[in-house]
Amino acid sequence: MIQSVNIMKFFATPYHYNLLKDQERLSAFYEALTKKKWGVVYDLGTGSGILSYFAAPHSHSVFALEKDYKSWQCARRNLKKWSNVQVINEDITDFDFHLKADLFICEMLDTALIDEEQIPVLNNALKYLKSTGKVIPEGVINGAEPVFMSTPRISYKDVDQINFPEYYILGDLVIFNHIIFKEKTSKKVDVEIEFRTKSSGKMNAIKLTTFTLLDSKLVCGPTPMLNPPLFIPTEEITLNKDEKVKMNLSYIMGGGLDNIRTKIKNIS
Ligand SMILES: C[S@@+](CC[C@H](N)C(=O)[O-])C[C@H]1O[C@@H](n2cnc3c(N)ncnc32)[C@H](O)[C@@H]1O
Repeated sequence: MIQSVNIMKFFATPYHYNLLKDQERLSAFYEALTKKKWGVVYDLGTGSGILSYFAAPHSHSVFALEKDYKSWQCARRNLKKWSNVQVINEDITDFDFHLKADLFICEMLDTALIDEEQIPVLNNALKYLKSTGKVIPEGVINGAEPVFMSTPRISYKDVDQINFPEYYILGDLVIFNHIIFKEKTSKKVDVEIEFRTKSSGKMNAIKLTTFTLLDSKLVCGPTPMLNPPLFIPTEEITLNKDEKVKMNLSYIMGGGLDNIRTKIKNIS
């Protein structure tokens, strides 16, 4: 049971402590990691070490990799009770994986994979995963909705957003891609999205939502610290009910929020 892990006793940086407080996120990972036995496991970006802590009693050996020195120190203390875990302070992109992996744990997620290194890191590491190996989470599904924001600005609606701008949603969620982490993926996203309005009004932004597929049977929606909804301003247009809006959305995964581009193509 996840309750048997005393999170309050974990050493963590302020950011990782917020990740630890998100019970829904932790429960989803706990369920996926403790379902079966694993052989060689690499935890890519271990942070406080929490996901290695879950996996350790179910694995032959765990290599917990973390590039940030302070986080690595915390993880080393948190994981010292497990003799089958090695906590390594290295950048994964330079790391020599001496044993092929049965499992990669990789939680460098962020909404639509725009701002974190999940895809560049995995693209580099996948050659060290056995053909029978797994990645947890298995992938993500990304969708967008047309919205009007009282003050349009790029922003996450997460735990810290007390004064988040008012907004209303003009159309249904449209899924624009499905990314499977075991497959090497181009970092470039360039998609055409077609919305249909449910009501009339102005549109000046899109709201991105990411669903995390922990495995084939376990899906986790946005939680306060796992892919909170991301709002992105667009050109402002006025729409009638039942209109179709085609727009282009492009960005490089891992390229940061400044690299997002949107363009309204047509309204019909
Ligand atoms: C979102 S945090 C997740 C931490 C932890 N796995 C968890 O779920 O609580 C991602 C972590 O990956 C680490 N990281 C990012 N890029 C890395 C890289 N190239 N090599 C090693 N660690 C990396 C960051 O320093 C950060 O601690």
